[in-house]
Amino acid sequence: IPVDPFDLIIIGATGDLARRKILPGLFRRMCAGQMPETAKVIGASRGDLDDAGFRDFVKDALKEFAGDTAKDAKSVAQFLEMLEYVSLDVFGDTGWKELKSKLRPDTIHAVYFSVGPSLFGEIARKLSGHGITDEHSRIVVEKPFGHDLETAKALNTELRACFDEHQIYRIDHYLGKETVQNLMAVRFGNALFEPLWNAQHVDHVQITVAETVSVEGRGGYYDKSGAMRDMVQNHLMQLLCLSAMEPPSKYGADAVRDEKLKVIRALEPVAPSEVVRGQYSAGRDMASYLEHAEDPDSKTESFIAMKVKVANWRWASTPFYLRTGKRLRGRMSEIAIVFKDPPHSIFEGDFNRKGNVLVIRLQPDEGITMRVTIKEPGPGGMRLTEVPLDMSFADALGDQVSVMPDAYERLIMDVIRGDQTLFMRGDEVEAAWAWVDPIIEAWQDAGSRPVPYDPGGSGPDDSLMLLHKDGRRWREIKS
Ligand code: BG6
Repeated sequence: IPVDPFDLIIIGATGDLARRKILPGLFRRMCAGQMPETAKVIGASRGDLDDAGFRDFVKDALKEFAGDTAKDAKSVAQFLEMLEYVSLDVFGDTGWKELKSKLRPDTIHAVYFSVGPSLFGEIARKLSGHGITDEHSRIVVEKPFGHDLETAKALNTELRACFDEHQIYRIDHYLGKETVQNLMAVRFGNALFEPLWNAQHVDHVQITVAETVSVEGRGGYYDKSGAMRDMVQNHLMQLLCLSAMEPPSKYGADAVRDEKLKVIRALEPVAPSEVVRGQYSAGRDMASYLEHAEDPDSKTESFIAMKVKVANWRWASTPFYLRTGKRLRGRMSEIAIVFKDPPHSIFEGDFNRKGNVLVIRLQPDEGITMRVTIKEPGPGGMRLTEVPLDMSFADALGDQVSVMPDAYERLIMDVIRGDQTLFMRGDEVEAAWAWVDPIIEAWQDAGSRPVPYDPGGSGPDDSLMLLHKDGRRWREIKS
């Protein structure tokens, strides 16, 4: 179903995010019939382009990042027709009046801030000062939303000086991922899981976001962030919230975000002994983190593993183990709910059983696996073994999966629909920083250094120990 007609301004339209994600994403939505023919996309940036120059730029971007859909010349031409360009000086006066003149009355107006957070405040002031936005407009901002609690609060104050909270769409692209939303569908759309989804039945939860990529090419940004700020404060935190939250009263923006916020507020402070930080070393033909980061003495982590406790009735005594890192053995993101053993075993010698695990695979090969115990086939008596009840979305849903919108496509369409459910609310972001800040401060105070780990593995050995000392083990990171 097409969304309502809209005018979307992209500030920073010639930057990397626009080129790789936003513009190709819009194009694919147009091809899928979701973008109305009358939609208008106004690119704005410092560059001295005109409409034709911007269209050439977008054409190249589609060729590179829109896959096979970009081979259809007619669709490409139709999309380019929707584009206009304004050369804009964020700190000066150039371009703002022209931007306003391009907006049509009676359409939805949205502005995507595809720029660094240091420009958010100035852009917000210019947009409302020039009357480009009003109380019906929506703005979209990207992560990183601040560097710590103080900067996040300052950003919220700057944005809220010009916009209401219901107009601000803070993107965490993990929330746009199909399987992340599926986590809610699995939990709250089935009667089966929720009664078991608590400390009484769940031994622990493992959340893994493993990547094979390094920080090459973005060492400057990354070195100031590290895995804690780049991944844990946002993406892993969202996964934790959706796994741990209480059922919201309905699937709606505030109902869902209220429940997520309660989880963040229930997080216990994390002791330094329950966090492992790592930094990848050099491998065969592979540079080390320190070479990518440029600072030969960098103390920034490219890997983190931690034990997190959600201090509430549902999760008391059930830890959540989180880990994420670059240059690991495989690209694998999953949430594993590891259930407790049955209270009493009626079988002799069933010590090999590993127990029930529900795994929600976020990427790649999105799907759900439930490990169940069965009898080993054959006449050897009542010996137990494990088998997976496996469901890959691609197998189960076929073609529907191949046309699934990627995270950005879905989120941009949600902005136009006015649905904030999959965006972070200001108080949620601040609560996440309030939990993360003391952990980072403790490292800084101690002058601690991440431990080196070999590329292509599963991170530092200390991370294995984090679970071993609790009598548990991480699930394998597969290549
Ligand atoms: C980004 C981080 O937000 O997410 C990157 O800045 C990370 O460091 C990326 O690589 C991972 O996203 P995805 O969708 O590839 O899992």
